[in-house]
Amino acid sequence: MRISVTGCGYLGAVHASAMAKLGHDVIGIDVDEPKIASLAQGEPPFFEPELPELLTASIASGRLRFTTDPAAAAEATVHFVAVGTPQTSDGNAADLSYVDAAIDALLPHIGDGHVVVGKSTVPVGTAAKLAERIHETGARLVWNPEFLREGYAVRDTVEPDRLVYGVEPGDDASVAVLDEVYAHALELGTPRMVTDFATSELVKVAANAFLATKISFINAMAEIAEATGADVTQLADAIGHDSRIGRRFLNAGVGFGGGCLPKDIRAFTARAEELGRGEAVAFLKEVDGINLRRRKRVVDLATAELGGSVVGRKVAVLGVTFKPHSDDVRDSPALDVAVALKGLGAAVVAVDPKGVANARVRHPQLDYAEDATDALRGADLVILVTEWPEYVGLDPVATRELVAGATVIDGRNALDRDAWVGAGWRYRGMGRS
Ligand code: UGA
Repeated sequence: MRISVTGCGYLGAVHASAMAKLGHDVIGIDVDEPKIASLAQGEPPFFEPELPELLTASIASGRLRFTTDPAAAAEATVHFVAVGTPQTSDGNAADLSYVDAAIDALLPHIGDGHVVVGKSTVPVGTAAKLAERIHETGARLVWNPEFLREGYAVRDTVEPDRLVYGVEPGDDASVAVLDEVYAHALELGTPRMVTDFATSELVKVAANAFLATKISFINAMAEIAEATGADVTQLADAIGHDSRIGRRFLNAGVGFGGGCLPKDIRAFTARAEELGRGEAVAFLKEVDGINLRRRKRVVDLATAELGGSVVGRKVAVLGVTFKPHSDDVRDSPALDVAVALKGLGAAVVAVDPKGVANARVRHPQLDYAEDATDALRGADLVILVTEWPEYVGLDPVATRELVAGATVIDGRNALDRDAWVGAGWRYRGMGRS
């Protein structure tokens, strides 16, 4: 298939590279010149495991090119739209300006027999509106939400756990086109569902809302555990054995962040309110509230552990990204904790294997260490906020030699508590005694 992909961020760059690997001819389009220049040289402008190799191989095959010229879309017949839909600056709703701009740029270059495939996460009702404009060209629209996780984006794209096509009634031709695009995944037995536009748009936000709710549920239990002396990790293990509940996404800690879960639950709430159904998802405000309280909990714990004031005390913050295996610091709980402690007067030194460059742009006022040893040396308090394997695997005995005060706050309940306590540390987990 001849494919264009408009929007070459985490989603689009991975999608374009993966589609080329699967044998399609792909042109990646983005308005961001430095990003396109970097991708064209086989260098992703962000960290994503396996992407550099995939990108290089796909470019070398001759099936993947990048450009800033929207007219290049005319070479293709299948047009993916993978631009971002961030939170608006003045409210909770999604900002659709990038989607609108992408469609505006595509319209002059599409026509009969072409299929536009929306991948961006959009408020329900968006596809129906866009379809009217796309039909005027003779092309068709499919809404095909994406469920990839950062850190596993390549695997999730090549071997997704499901495919959802939102189509207009009777549009079998577009279904057949997408089946050809996704032939590899379909051959592997990937479940594929054909729905209407609204269902496909909702599947995406419902999935993220469910995941966010699951995390906030266990973090709410952590709050109760903190008041009662119970252990939330044992609680999660015990309820997780019930296969109806399941153990995944039940890790209590500093909560969820990133470019997706937080903004998606807010946009969902805003859209439901517009539809006059705000009550139906009012609980998502509570999910958001529980989540944000966990960041404050870490800051409060740190203050208490330092005797009521953090002023002038050295705090080593391990991790700044919103999760490991990513350099993404958008809405990162780890970075929020570091910034809050700095604001309270602590001498914060943050460290991260991949996220420092991005964190420095947003928060130049923080001190960043070269490596964990540098951050830990002379620290009065250690806080683990992103569970990078290199931090989880720190030797508590050797680490104790470096610090001034042997207290660790495990913001992800990821450390081996017994080993740290055994090495003489005072250990404070989240929802654990
Ligand atoms: C999420 C979804 O998992 C993807 O399916 C979806 O495609 C993506 O958003 C998106 O909409 O683009 P992602 O943002 O990469 O993916 O991150 P997750 O792996 O879902 O983690 C989100 C946050 O939840 C992280 O901050 C993580 O540390 C936190 N988390 C996760 C917990 O606090 N506890 C858990 O048990 C699991």
